[in-house]
Amino acid sequence: MIEIKENIFWVGIKDWEIKTFHGEELSTHRGSTYNSYLIKDEKNVLVDTVWTPFKEEYVARLDAEFGLDNIDAVVVNHSESDHSGSLTHLMSQIPDADIYCTKNGHDMIYRHHHMDWKFNEVKTGDTLKTGKYELVFVEAPMLHWPDSMFTYVKGADLLLSNDAFGQHYATSAMYDDEVDQCELFQEAIKYYANILTPFSSLVKKKIEEFKAMNVPVDMIAPSHGVIWRKDALDIVGKYYEWADAYQEDFVVIAYDTMWNGTKSMAEAIASGLKESRVPYKLFNIAKSDMNDIITQIFRSKGVIVGSPTINRRVLSAVSALIETMKGLRFKNKAGAAFGGYGWSGESVSVIEDGLKSAGIEVAVPGIKFRYNPTSDELEECKQFGKQFAKNLKK
Ligand code: FEO
Repeated sequence: MIEIKENIFWVGIKDWEIKTFHGEELSTHRGSTYNSYLIKDEKNVLVDTVWTPFKEEYVARLDAEFGLDNIDAVVVNHSESDHSGSLTHLMSQIPDADIYCTKNGHDMIYRHHHMDWKFNEVKTGDTLKTGKYELVFVEAPMLHWPDSMFTYVKGADLLLSNDAFGQHYATSAMYDDEVDQCELFQEAIKYYANILTPFSSLVKKKIEEFKAMNVPVDMIAPSHGVIWRKDALDIVGKYYEWADAYQEDFVVIAYDTMWNGTKSMAEAIASGLKESRVPYKLFNIAKSDMNDIITQIFRSKGVIVGSPTINRRVLSAVSALIETMKGLRFKNKAGAAFGGYGWSGESVSVIEDGLKSAGIEVAVPGIKFRYNPTSDELEECKQFGKQFAKNLKK
Protein backbone atom coordinates (compact mmCIF):
# COMPACT_ATOMS: atom_id res chain seq x y z
CA MET A 1 0.00 0.00 0.00
CA ILE A 2 1.49 3.30 -1.08
CA GLU A 3 -0.10 6.43 0.36
CA ILE A 4 -0.75 8.98 -2.42
CA LYS A 5 -2.90 11.36 -0.38
CA GLU A 6 -3.74 11.32 3.31
CA ASN A 7 -5.36 7.92 3.92
CA ILE A 8 -5.70 7.22 0.20
CA PHE A 9 -3.52 4.37 -1.01
CA TRP A 10 -2.39 2.85 -4.30
CA VAL A 11 -2.97 -0.90 -4.01
CA GLY A 12 -2.44 -1.93 -7.62
CA ILE A 13 -0.18 -4.22 -9.59
CA LYS A 14 2.80 -3.41 -11.80
CA ASP A 15 2.97 -5.72 -14.78
CA TRP A 16 6.45 -5.49 -16.23
CA GLU A 17 5.94 -8.53 -18.47
CA ILE A 18 2.89 -7.63 -20.53
CA LYS A 19 3.89 -6.81 -24.11
CA THR A 20 0.47 -6.89 -25.78
CA PHE A 21 -2.89 -5.70 -24.51
CA HIS A 22 -6.48 -6.33 -25.66
CA GLY A 23 -5.36 -9.83 -26.61
CA GLU A 24 -2.61 -9.26 -29.16
CA GLU A 25 -4.07 -6.01 -30.49
CA LEU A 26 -2.12 -3.28 -28.71
CA SER A 27 1.63 -3.33 -28.10
CA THR A 28 2.78 -2.37 -24.61
CA HIS A 29 6.55 -2.19 -24.96
CA ARG A 30 6.98 -0.76 -21.48
CA GLY A 31 4.56 -3.10 -19.69
CA SER A 32 1.62 -1.64 -17.80
CA THR A 33 0.11 -1.19 -14.38
CA TYR A 34 -3.38 -1.86 -13.06
CA ASN A 35 -3.98 0.89 -10.54
CA SER A 36 -6.41 0.21 -7.75
CA TYR A 37 -6.99 2.72 -4.96
CA LEU A 38 -8.14 2.32 -1.37
CA ILE A 39 -9.78 5.18 0.49
CA LYS A 40 -9.42 4.60 4.21
CA ASP A 41 -12.09 6.58 6.03
CA GLU A 42 -15.10 5.94 8.27
CA LYS A 43 -16.31 3.95 5.27
CA ASN A 44 -13.47 2.15 3.48
CA VAL A 45 -13.83 2.17 -0.29
CA LEU A 46 -11.83 0.38 -2.96
CA VAL A 47 -11.80 2.01 -6.39
CA ASP A 48 -11.22 -0.42 -9.27
CA THR A 49 -9.42 -3.75 -9.04
CA VAL A 50 -6.78 -5.41 -11.24
CA TRP A 51 -6.57 -7.80 -14.19
CA THR A 52 -7.71 -11.38 -13.67
CA PRO A 53 -4.29 -13.15 -13.70
CA PHE A 54 -3.27 -11.07 -10.68
CA LYS A 55 -6.48 -11.58 -8.68
CA GLU A 56 -5.00 -13.93 -6.06
CA GLU A 57 -1.90 -11.85 -5.43
CA TYR A 58 -3.98 -8.66 -5.30
CA VAL A 59 -6.66 -9.94 -2.93
CA ALA A 60 -4.13 -11.69 -0.67
CA ARG A 61 -2.09 -8.49 -0.38
CA LEU A 62 -5.18 -6.42 0.38
CA ASP A 63 -6.13 -8.91 3.06
CA ALA A 64 -2.66 -9.01 4.60
CA GLU A 65 -2.10 -5.25 4.55
CA PHE A 66 -5.61 -3.95 5.26
CA GLY A 67 -8.03 -6.79 5.96
CA LEU A 68 -10.74 -7.64 3.46
CA ASP A 69 -13.44 -7.45 6.13
CA ASN A 70 -12.69 -3.75 6.49
CA ILE A 71 -13.78 -3.00 2.93
CA ASP A 72 -17.28 -1.53 2.85
CA ALA A 73 -17.69 -0.74 -0.82
CA VAL A 74 -16.09 -1.13 -4.24
CA VAL A 75 -16.36 1.52 -6.94
CA VAL A 76 -16.12 0.04 -10.42
CA ASN A 77 -15.30 2.91 -12.75
CA HIS A 78 -15.10 0.54 -15.72
CA SER A 79 -15.95 -3.12 -16.24
CA GLU A 80 -13.19 -4.11 -18.67
CA SER A 81 -11.25 -7.09 -17.35
CA ASP A 82 -8.04 -5.20 -16.63
CA HIS A 83 -9.96 -3.31 -13.92
CA SER A 84 -12.78 -5.61 -12.89
CA GLY A 85 -11.13 -8.99 -13.53
CA SER A 86 -10.51 -9.58 -9.83
CA LEU A 87 -14.08 -8.83 -8.78
CA THR A 88 -15.38 -12.40 -8.66
CA HIS A 89 -12.48 -13.50 -6.47
CA LEU A 90 -12.68 -10.40 -4.27
CA MET A 91 -16.45 -10.42 -3.88
CA SER A 92 -16.48 -14.13 -3.01
CA GLN A 93 -14.78 -13.01 0.21
CA ILE A 94 -16.74 -9.80 0.84
CA PRO A 95 -20.17 -10.59 -0.68
CA ASP A 96 -21.96 -7.93 1.36
CA ALA A 97 -19.85 -5.04 0.13
CA ASP A 98 -21.69 -2.45 -1.96
CA ILE A 99 -20.69 -1.95 -5.56
CA TYR A 100 -21.00 1.52 -7.10
CA CYS A 101 -21.04 1.79 -10.88
CA THR A 102 -23.01 3.34 -13.73
CA LYS A 103 -26.19 1.75 -15.10
CA ASN A 104 -24.20 0.46 -18.07
CA GLY A 105 -21.55 -0.71 -15.63
CA HIS A 106 -24.12 -2.80 -13.78
CA ASP A 107 -25.15 -4.54 -17.01
CA MET A 108 -21.57 -5.05 -18.19
CA ILE A 109 -20.22 -6.25 -14.84
CA TYR A 110 -23.07 -8.76 -14.76
CA ARG A 111 -22.24 -9.92 -18.31
CA HIS A 112 -18.62 -10.46 -17.28
CA HIS A 113 -19.15 -12.07 -13.88
CA HIS A 114 -22.75 -13.39 -13.90
CA MET A 115 -23.22 -12.50 -10.24
CA ASP A 116 -25.90 -10.51 -8.43
CA TRP A 117 -23.95 -8.38 -6.02
CA LYS A 118 -25.26 -5.33 -4.12
CA PHE A 119 -25.19 -2.95 -7.06
CA ASN A 120 -25.75 0.77 -6.58
CA GLU A 121 -26.17 2.54 -9.92
CA VAL A 122 -24.85 6.09 -9.93
CA LYS A 123 -25.14 9.05 -12.27
CA THR A 124 -23.11 12.22 -12.72
CA GLY A 125 -23.28 14.30 -9.55
CA ASP A 126 -24.23 11.40 -7.27
CA THR A 127 -22.07 11.24 -4.17
CA LEU A 128 -20.91 8.79 -1.55
CA LYS A 129 -19.79 10.27 1.74
CA THR A 130 -16.98 8.17 3.20
CA GLY A 131 -16.34 10.35 6.29
CA LYS A 132 -13.71 13.01 5.87
CA TYR A 133 -13.93 12.53 2.12
CA GLU A 134 -16.81 12.47 -0.30
CA LEU A 135 -16.79 10.67 -3.65
CA VAL A 136 -18.45 12.45 -6.55
CA PHE A 137 -19.23 10.30 -9.57
CA VAL A 138 -18.91 11.63 -13.12
CA GLU A 139 -20.18 9.45 -15.96
CA ALA A 140 -17.86 9.35 -18.96
CA PRO A 141 -19.69 7.16 -21.49
CA MET A 142 -17.55 6.03 -24.44
CA LEU A 143 -14.35 7.17 -22.79
CA HIS A 144 -13.80 4.53 -23.80
CA TRP A 145 -16.64 2.09 -23.02
CA PRO A 146 -20.33 2.88 -22.42
CA ASP A 147 -19.91 2.18 -18.70
CA SER A 148 -16.84 4.36 -18.04
CA MET A 149 -16.90 6.91 -15.24
CA PHE A 150 -14.54 9.02 -13.15
CA THR A 151 -14.59 9.28 -9.37
CA TYR A 152 -13.63 12.64 -7.88
CA VAL A 153 -12.52 12.58 -4.25
CA LYS A 154 -13.81 15.76 -2.68
CA GLY A 155 -11.58 16.89 0.15
CA ALA A 156 -8.50 15.37 -1.50
CA ASP A 157 -8.66 17.32 -4.79
CA LEU A 158 -8.07 13.97 -6.46
CA LEU A 159 -9.55 12.67 -9.71
CA LEU A 160 -9.58 8.90 -10.19
CA SER A 161 -9.96 8.95 -13.95
CA ASN A 162 -9.74 5.25 -14.82
CA ASP A 163 -8.46 4.76 -18.41
CA ALA A 164 -8.47 8.47 -19.28
CA PHE A 165 -5.01 10.06 -18.91
CA GLY A 166 -3.48 6.58 -18.51
CA GLN A 167 -0.35 5.13 -20.05
CA HIS A 168 0.82 1.55 -20.51
CA TYR A 169 3.98 2.20 -18.57
CA ALA A 170 5.44 0.06 -15.79
CA THR A 171 8.01 1.92 -13.73
CA SER A 172 9.39 1.74 -10.23
CA ALA A 173 8.15 5.33 -9.79
CA MET A 174 4.63 6.35 -8.81
CA TYR A 175 4.41 9.89 -10.18
CA ASP A 176 4.82 11.77 -13.45
CA ASP A 177 7.62 13.98 -12.15
CA GLU A 178 9.76 10.97 -11.24
CA VAL A 179 10.04 9.49 -14.73
CA ASP A 180 11.63 10.23 -18.08
CA GLN A 181 9.26 12.77 -19.65
CA CYS A 182 9.88 11.53 -23.20
CA GLU A 183 8.95 7.98 -22.25
CA LEU A 184 5.91 9.20 -20.34
CA PHE A 185 4.50 11.34 -23.14
CA GLN A 186 5.31 8.70 -25.78
CA GLU A 187 3.15 6.28 -23.83
CA ALA A 188 0.42 8.82 -23.06
CA ILE A 189 0.02 9.85 -26.71
CA LYS A 190 0.24 6.24 -27.92
CA TYR A 191 -2.60 5.40 -25.52
CA TYR A 192 -4.68 8.31 -26.79
CA ALA A 193 -3.97 7.64 -30.47
CA ASN A 194 -4.76 3.94 -30.37
CA ILE A 195 -7.65 3.90 -27.92
CA LEU A 196 -9.32 7.28 -27.60
CA THR A 197 -9.08 8.79 -31.10
CA PRO A 198 -12.59 7.71 -32.19
CA PHE A 199 -14.08 9.40 -29.15
CA SER A 200 -12.28 12.73 -29.49
CA SER A 201 -15.44 14.85 -29.70
CA LEU A 202 -16.62 13.27 -26.44
CA VAL A 203 -13.21 13.87 -24.86
CA LYS A 204 -13.50 17.60 -25.57
CA LYS A 205 -17.05 17.76 -24.23
CA LYS A 206 -16.15 15.84 -21.09
CA ILE A 207 -13.20 18.11 -20.36
CA GLU A 208 -15.40 21.17 -20.82
CA GLU A 209 -18.09 19.63 -18.59
CA PHE A 210 -15.56 18.77 -15.91
CA LYS A 211 -14.01 22.23 -16.03
CA ALA A 212 -17.48 23.72 -15.60
CA MET A 213 -17.83 21.76 -12.35
CA ASN A 214 -15.10 24.09 -11.11
CA VAL A 215 -13.66 21.69 -8.57
CA PRO A 216 -10.03 21.81 -7.46
CA VAL A 217 -7.80 19.06 -8.88
CA ASP A 218 -4.18 18.74 -7.84
CA MET A 219 -3.73 15.06 -8.63
CA ILE A 220 -5.07 12.80 -11.39
CA ALA A 221 -4.70 9.10 -10.72
CA PRO A 222 -5.54 6.99 -13.78
CA SER A 223 -5.88 3.24 -13.82
CA HIS A 224 -2.72 2.67 -15.88
CA GLY A 225 0.75 4.07 -15.48
CA VAL A 226 1.97 6.90 -13.30
CA ILE A 227 -0.10 9.40 -11.31
CA TRP A 228 -0.11 13.02 -12.49
CA ARG A 229 0.76 15.31 -9.56
CA LYS A 230 3.10 17.95 -11.03
CA ASP A 231 0.84 20.42 -12.79
CA ALA A 232 -1.73 17.63 -12.96
CA LEU A 233 -4.00 19.56 -15.29
CA ASP A 234 -1.32 19.70 -18.01
CA ILE A 235 -2.31 16.24 -19.22
CA VAL A 236 -5.92 17.46 -19.42
CA GLY A 237 -4.70 20.29 -21.65
CA LYS A 238 -2.81 17.77 -23.77
CA TYR A 239 -5.95 15.66 -24.16
CA TYR A 240 -7.87 18.74 -25.26
CA GLU A 241 -5.20 19.43 -27.87
CA TRP A 242 -5.07 15.80 -29.04
CA ALA A 243 -8.86 15.68 -29.30
CA ASP A 244 -8.89 18.66 -31.64
CA ALA A 245 -7.78 17.17 -35.02
CA TYR A 246 -4.22 17.12 -33.71
CA GLN A 247 -1.27 17.28 -36.07
CA GLU A 248 2.45 17.97 -36.07
CA ASP A 249 4.53 19.02 -39.02
CA PHE A 250 5.51 15.76 -40.71
CA VAL A 251 4.17 13.10 -43.06
CA VAL A 252 4.15 9.32 -42.64
CA ILE A 253 5.00 7.05 -45.56
CA ALA A 254 3.89 3.52 -44.75
CA TYR A 255 4.34 0.69 -47.23
CA ASP A 256 4.94 -2.99 -47.65
CA THR A 257 6.90 -4.47 -50.52
CA MET A 258 7.50 -7.88 -52.14
CA TRP A 259 10.63 -7.41 -54.27
CA ASN A 260 11.50 -3.83 -53.31
CA GLY A 261 9.77 -2.10 -56.24
CA THR A 262 7.25 -0.44 -53.92
CA LYS A 263 10.05 0.26 -51.43
CA SER A 264 12.05 2.14 -54.08
CA MET A 265 8.90 4.16 -54.90
CA ALA A 266 8.50 4.98 -51.19
CA GLU A 267 12.05 6.26 -51.00
CA ALA A 268 11.66 8.35 -54.16
CA ILE A 269 8.43 9.89 -52.80
CA ALA A 270 10.30 10.63 -49.58
CA SER A 271 13.01 12.45 -51.54
CA GLY A 272 10.30 14.64 -53.08
CA LEU A 273 8.98 15.51 -49.62
CA LYS A 274 12.49 16.28 -48.45
CA GLU A 275 13.16 18.63 -51.38
CA SER A 276 9.91 20.37 -50.43
CA ARG A 277 11.17 20.67 -46.84
CA VAL A 278 8.41 18.48 -45.47
CA PRO A 279 9.76 16.16 -42.75
CA TYR A 280 8.70 12.53 -43.07
CA LYS A 281 8.86 9.19 -41.28
CA LEU A 282 9.15 6.03 -43.34
CA PHE A 283 7.81 2.66 -42.19
CA ASN A 284 7.79 -0.79 -43.72
CA ILE A 285 4.48 -1.79 -42.17
CA ALA A 286 5.26 -5.51 -42.06
CA LYS A 287 8.52 -4.87 -40.20
CA SER A 288 7.16 -2.26 -37.77
CA ASP A 289 4.87 -2.22 -34.78
CA MET A 290 1.34 -1.37 -35.95
CA ASN A 291 0.48 0.72 -32.88
CA ASP A 292 3.67 2.71 -33.17
CA ILE A 293 2.84 3.50 -36.81
CA ILE A 294 -0.70 4.48 -35.79
CA THR A 295 0.73 6.82 -33.15
CA GLN A 296 2.89 8.49 -35.79
CA ILE A 297 -0.04 8.80 -38.21
CA PHE A 298 -2.07 10.36 -35.38
CA ARG A 299 0.71 12.93 -34.90
CA SER A 300 1.22 13.57 -38.63
CA LYS A 301 -0.31 15.91 -41.19
CA GLY A 302 -0.74 13.15 -43.71
CA VAL A 303 -0.11 9.54 -44.63
CA ILE A 304 1.06 8.11 -47.93
CA VAL A 305 0.36 4.38 -48.13
CA GLY A 306 1.96 1.94 -50.56
CA SER A 307 1.48 -1.68 -51.49
CA PRO A 308 2.13 -3.89 -54.47
CA THR A 309 -0.92 -5.58 -55.93
CA ILE A 310 -1.47 -9.18 -54.91
CA ASN A 311 -4.51 -11.11 -56.09
CA ARG A 312 -6.11 -7.76 -57.02
CA ARG A 313 -5.77 -6.49 -53.47
CA VAL A 314 -2.99 -5.27 -51.16
CA LEU A 315 -0.51 -7.08 -48.91
CA SER A 316 -2.04 -8.20 -45.61
CA ALA A 317 0.01 -5.82 -43.41
CA VAL A 318 -1.23 -2.88 -45.48
CA SER A 319 -4.77 -4.15 -45.27
CA ALA A 320 -4.50 -4.37 -41.47
CA LEU A 321 -3.24 -0.79 -41.25
CA ILE A 322 -6.06 0.52 -43.42
CA GLU A 323 -8.63 -1.43 -41.41
CA THR A 324 -7.26 0.02 -38.17
CA MET A 325 -7.37 3.56 -39.59
CA LYS A 326 -10.99 3.03 -40.66
CA GLY A 327 -11.88 2.29 -37.04
CA LEU A 328 -9.90 5.17 -35.58
CA ARG A 329 -11.21 7.82 -38.02
CA PHE A 330 -8.41 10.38 -37.80
CA LYS A 331 -9.44 13.95 -38.52
CA ASN A 332 -7.75 16.51 -40.74
CA LYS A 333 -5.19 14.24 -42.44
CA ALA A 334 -4.25 14.19 -46.11
CA GLY A 335 -3.53 10.88 -47.82
CA ALA A 336 -2.25 9.31 -51.02
CA ALA A 337 -1.53 5.86 -52.45
CA PHE A 338 1.21 4.24 -54.48
CA GLY A 339 2.42 0.79 -55.38
CA GLY A 340 4.13 -1.57 -57.77
CA TYR A 341 2.30 -4.18 -59.79
CA GLY A 342 2.84 -6.89 -62.38
CA TRP A 343 -0.28 -7.15 -64.51
CA SER A 344 -3.57 -5.89 -63.01
CA GLY A 345 -2.55 -3.12 -60.52
CA GLU A 346 -5.56 -2.66 -58.25
CA SER A 347 -3.60 -1.86 -55.06
CA VAL A 348 -3.68 1.90 -55.52
CA SER A 349 -7.44 2.07 -55.88
CA VAL A 350 -7.88 -0.34 -52.94
CA ILE A 351 -5.74 1.95 -50.77
CA GLU A 352 -7.50 5.11 -51.96
CA ASP A 353 -10.90 3.59 -51.17
CA GLY A 354 -9.57 2.59 -47.74
CA LEU A 355 -8.22 6.07 -47.03
CA LYS A 356 -11.54 7.65 -47.99
CA SER A 357 -13.41 5.19 -45.74
CA ALA A 358 -11.05 6.19 -42.94
CA GLY A 359 -12.02 9.85 -43.40
CA ILE A 360 -8.68 10.76 -44.99
CA GLU A 361 -8.80 13.05 -47.97
CA VAL A 362 -6.85 11.83 -51.01
CA ALA A 363 -4.67 14.85 -51.76
CA VAL A 364 -2.95 13.53 -54.93
CA PRO A 365 -4.17 10.81 -57.33
CA GLY A 366 -2.30 7.55 -56.76
CA ILE A 367 0.76 6.44 -58.69
CA LYS A 368 1.73 2.94 -59.82
CA PHE A 369 4.44 1.32 -61.94
CA ARG A 370 5.05 -2.19 -63.27
CA TYR A 371 7.73 -4.30 -61.61
CA ASN A 372 10.94 -2.38 -60.95
CA PRO A 373 10.44 1.32 -61.60
CA THR A 374 12.85 2.92 -64.08
CA SER A 375 14.83 6.01 -63.14
CA ASP A 376 12.27 8.14 -65.01
CA GLU A 377 9.47 6.50 -63.08
CA LEU A 378 11.29 7.11 -59.80
CA GLU A 379 11.60 10.74 -60.84
CA GLU A 380 7.80 10.74 -61.27
CA CYS A 381 7.52 9.35 -57.72
CA LYS A 382 9.70 12.21 -56.50
CA GLN A 383 7.43 14.70 -58.28
CA PHE A 384 4.44 12.91 -56.71
CA GLY A 385 6.02 13.55 -53.28
CA LYS A 386 6.53 17.21 -54.19
CA GLN A 387 2.94 17.56 -55.35
CA PHE A 388 1.72 15.98 -52.12
CA ALA A 389 3.83 18.47 -50.16
CA LYS A 390 2.44 21.35 -52.21
CA ASN A 391 -1.17 20.27 -51.70
CA LEU A 392 -0.48 19.78 -47.99
CA LYS A 393 0.73 23.38 -47.71
CA LYS A 394 -2.49 24.59 -49.34
FE1 FEO B 1 -7.89 -0.19 -18.95
FE2 FEO B 1 -10.70 0.03 -20.83
O1 FEO B 1 -9.48 -0.76 -19.71
